[in-house]
Amino acid sequence: MAITKLECVTVEKQDGITWVMLNRPEKRNAMSPQLHYEMDETLRDLETDPETKVVVIGGNGGYFSAGQDLKMFFRENEKNPAGRKRAAEAANRWRWERLYKYDKPTIAMVEGYCVGGAFMQLLGTDFAIAAEDTVFSLSEVNWGILPGALVSKVVADAVLPRHALYYCCLGEAFDGKEAERIGMINFAVPKKKLRAETIKLAKKLMEKSPAVLRATKHAVRQVRTMDFDQSYDYLAAKGQAIKVGDPEDSYNTGLKQFLDEKAYKPTFQSFKTKDGGASKPAKGKKPLAKKSKVKSA
Ligand code: COA
Repeated sequence: MAITKLECVTVEKQDGITWVMLNRPEKRNAMSPQLHYEMDETLRDLETDPETKVVVIGGNGGYFSAGQDLKMFFRENEKNPAGRKRAAEAANRWRWERLYKYDKPTIAMVEGYCVGGAFMQLLGTDFAIAAEDTVFSLSEVNWGILPGALVSKVVADAVLPRHALYYCCLGEAFDGKEAERIGMINFAVPKKKLRAETIKLAKKLMEKSPAVLRATKHAVRQVRTMDFDQSYDYLAAKGQAIKVGDPEDSYNTGLKQFLDEKAYKPTFQSFKTKDGGASKPAKGKKPLAKKSKVKSA
């Protein structure tokens, strides 16, 4: 049944960026079954929403998420296997299946707490920026379970084995700088710059051809589990698919703008898309006049 009114999630759209925020700040954005149902439907709808170019996942009140709601997701569902199954399906679907294969770029904007089950949406998104003082913790071992659903798997896939074992087995908290050091996030910034840095990254992504960006992120994800022969085949097919299905005709447009019009350098910027929305020259660089020279950045 479709959800008509969101209570545990807020959605705000601005300039192509859609901010999807968990909305239980009084519970540090711990994830209840209702929150999972709302996130699942929200992400499904935004994937085909024309106004949404980039999705940011965060949490209201300055908290990313304290993980699964220990009362509502776990304890209250212990004697209700049907409810538990339904909630778990929605929880896993939005945090992993949807985000991992999402057709639009996604960014996790992380602050406050990122605990336990929240590592699934952290690592399901394509990019993650965190406030330096964020508290990350794979706390499961501290209260008697292991990092379940896919948490152990996605953490083990994301970072070196010793880091995964250390933090999963000890449940020790770490901050944004450490999360950056071990590759759990892209970068950590001072808290006051978090939103601005998130917008900056989203804008860079919006300068790319959406079709090429979509194919590239799917490709980088999919080849991880393929061998070399499979990767050759998959990437060749994906490359052909872009040429057939890309409304920007990015390949020919890019070549024409570089080779014939001398309008840009792909090393530093994107080609200009038809609607003119993309490919603004990098800050401090003027659009290239014919035959002009650009120094390396
Ligand atoms: N599940 C259920 N409730 C949670 C929760 C969770 N994961 N995390 C926080 N809450 C609730 C608290 O019970 C409290 O509720 P109350 O106001 O009704 O008493 C409220 O959120 C605020 O939490 P509190 O502990 O007072 O806030 P804090 O800022 O001092 O500490 C945490 C925040 C996240 C460090 C702490 O709440 C905590 O350790 N939570 C458990 C996180 C966890 O292990 N998650 C893994 C789940 S997979």
